[in-house]
Amino acid sequence: MRTQVGIIGAGPSGLLLSHLLHLAGIESIVVEDRSRRYVEERIRAGVLEQQCVDLLVESGVGGRLLREGLVHHGVNLRFGGRTCRIDFARLTPGRAVTVYGQHEVVKDLIAARIEAGGEILFDVEDTSVEGIATDAPRIRFRHGGQAQSIACDFIAGCDGFHGISRPAIPHGALKVYERVYPFAWLGILAEAPPCSDELIYALHDDGFALLSMRSPRITRLYLQCRPDEDLEAWSDDRVWAELHKRLEDRDGPRVNEGPILQKGVTPMRSFVVEPMRHGRLYLAGDAAHIVPPTGAKGMNLAAADVRVLAHAFAAYYRERRTDLLDAYSAAALGRIWKAQRFSWWMTSMLHRFDGDSAFDRRRQLAELEYVAGSVAAQTSLAENYVGLPLD
Ligand code: APR
Ligand code: PHB
Repeated sequence: MRTQVGIIGAGPSGLLLSHLLHLAGIESIVVEDRSRRYVEERIRAGVLEQQCVDLLVESGVGGRLLREGLVHHGVNLRFGGRTCRIDFARLTPGRAVTVYGQHEVVKDLIAARIEAGGEILFDVEDTSVEGIATDAPRIRFRHGGQAQSIACDFIAGCDGFHGISRPAIPHGALKVYERVYPFAWLGILAEAPPCSDELIYALHDDGFALLSMRSPRITRLYLQCRPDEDLEAWSDDRVWAELHKRLEDRDGPRVNEGPILQKGVTPMRSFVVEPMRHGRLYLAGDAAHIVPPTGAKGMNLAAADVRVLAHAFAAYYRERRTDLLDAYSAAALGRIWKAQRFSWWMTSMLHRFDGDSAFDRRRQLAELEYVAGSVAAQTSLAENYVGLPLD
């Protein structure tokens, strides 16, 4: 097989890149080691920045998103028995976020690629890359029991944090920046109407909790827990008791209970590698960086990366320009580090850290009090949450 850009991974990064390249008249093949069903049902976060929505709509894959996505004009911070609403409509006029599950974006992108005759090979095994420092890189894998390979002009490593692309770059060529947090999130998907129209981020003495949603019938909830948490220890009764305790204040609504459809533990990490390129291998999305989910930036960063990368490939194929490809890593990293800062800040402000001193606890509450009382601080939170402007 031969193509112009070989893409490893059919998550949001790989699929959106393939779609944008197609619109620019550039061929690609996507290889994915999971099944189509698995990637279409994998539950992840679901908050899209305004410009991520705009990109999906302008590129023709936003129809269902516009019909079914829930537009939110604010979020709530709950602490010390009170609630502070961050009002996007007032603080960042004209900008909002849309709640729409990442797996729904994945479904829409797969449907669009297949409709356009695009090639996505699911269920591949033993993916590897070779010749990434040459002009003739190649992706090797097994598919349907047969050894296969794709000769490409370029490879896009969109295979997430645990993929093979980043480790294929020689040791020493990448600088790694990393922070692992001493807690995780227990994620719960429940068949119950959300008790609030907008997200609630709560800090309680027993830890963080978040109320989000997938639809008017489905609530998505998270509880701060230990990274090695045993799911067996979380009966449904314990989950609901903890959610009521952490999320409800004196006057607010009670969290609605319903059948729990899914429970899982998400570790929390901040991670970046620089540069996001080696030779003809370009990294995008979670393959190059991870944010803790508190700022809801993961998929938005993935979309921002591939937007820049697709432009750079388009300039190369249209005019043989290599300057934008050379500039890709630095251009993407500017936004990534700002999102890292924001995600770290939200995480630090809203979680209990074991071992915090009495001073640390008071300072954390003062931070929340400051945000609650300052238009400047709320504007800063709002502009980061809805998404900083594109460069
Ligand atoms: N060969 C082929 N595919 C692979 C391989 C491999 N060796 N390793 C991983 N993959 C696939 C995974 O199965 C997954 O479908 O690559 C895809 C990577 O997708 P994501 O992990 O969703 O990463 P990305 O597309 O960059 O999207 C980032 O995902 O984790 C969330 O919060 C994160 O929202 C962010 C988004
Ligand atoms: C989600 O709906 O899954 C969600 C929302 C906000 C976050 C993280 C996850 O910060």
